[in-house]
This record gives sequence, C-alpha cells and structure tokens, in this order.
Amino acid sequence: MANVAVFASGSGSNFENIATSDLNIDIKVLIVDNKDAKAIERAKRLNVPYKIVERTGKTRDQFEQDILEILKQGNVEYILLAGFMKILSAKFIEQYDRKIINIHPSLLPSFKGKDGILDAYNYGVKVSGVTVHYVDSGIDTGEIIDQAPVIIEDDDTLETFEDKIHATEYELYIRALKKVLEVNE
Ligand code: GRF
Repeated sequence: MANVAVFASGSGSNFENIATSDLNIDIKVLIVDNKDAKAIERAKRLNVPYKIVERTGKTRDQFEQDILEILKQGNVEYILLAGFMKILSAKFIEQYDRKIINIHPSLLPSFKGKDGILDAYNYGVKVSGVTVHYVDSGIDTGEIIDQAPVIIEDDDTLETFEDKIHATEYELYIRALKKVLEVNE
C-alpha cells in the first residue's frame, strides 16, 4: 500500500473522491495552505489527518521545509495535488521526482494555468477535458499520464460544463493513479 499525501487549497472534492476510492493507498495527511479550505471539513468527516501550513509570514523555502517535515514524518511516497494553488519550487520537486501528480481541468497543453475551465469555455472550444500529469518545475508542463475529453455542447453553460469536467476528473484521477501505482508496485 502506497503512503500518499494529498495537497488541496479549496473545496477538496477531488480529495474526497480519492479518499473514498478503492485505490490501494494510505492517505497519511491532507495538506492545506489555507485555513478556510472546505477540504478541511471533508478531512474531518472522513477521518483523514490534516495539517494547515500557511505561507503567510514565511519564506517559500521555510514554507516548503515545513511541508517536507510533515511528509517525512508520514513516510510519504507520493504527493497528489488536488486543487493546490501554490507553485512548488524546483528544489522541492527534485526531492519527489516523478512522485508528484496533478490533475488539471483542460486537455494540456491547451489552457494551462489556474483558470483552465473558464479559459476553455471563453475560447469557445468544442472539446476540452481533463489531464493527469507528473509535476515538473514548469506550470502544468509535466509528462502526461492520462487524459479524457469533455464535449462542450451548444447548450452548455459554464456551470454545466464545469459539472461535466468535475465528473470526468473523478473518474480519470482514479484511473491514472491506478496506472501509476500498479507500475511502481
Ligand atoms: C479541479 O478542477 C482540479 O482539476 C483543479 O482544481 C480543481 C479542484 O477542485 N486543479 P476540488 O477542490 O477538488 O473540488
């Protein structure tokens, strides 16, 4: 069973989806960088240990050292990003080479960045989707593990499109993680 940490900054629906999946993992800790993240309520309800590590008042290096310390304590092997809004430094990433995985709500390399859903919708593309990828030192540039398309129909609103993206995320993240974990068993 792989020891993992999930990192989230917001709602945490992907975190909950992972925590309630049949993946062969032990979630040692949920790391949130924001004390108001709804993900914390989910962790409490699901009995997953969590730590709030805020960046305010410290250097990025100190912030990352604080996180690394927690990961070390839990013998964490994989870091699963699930809506984590901080950019991790190259120095941090080097320590978890090909062990940090992210989910992004577009078909990369299109619509990188924090507004993948809105940017694709505003651009008017007819097909967007979801990507699961390894994290490297660029933003949404790491090697792709798996992708799934989402069709934008003429009668889709931003809200219905968003719902389709999230439903696709929940399936794809689990599928992609199974692929990664099986290979490394
Ligand atoms: C998801 O759309 C994910 O693809 C992106 O951030 C969002 C997180 O949503 N990276 P949630 O917090 O898991 O509900």
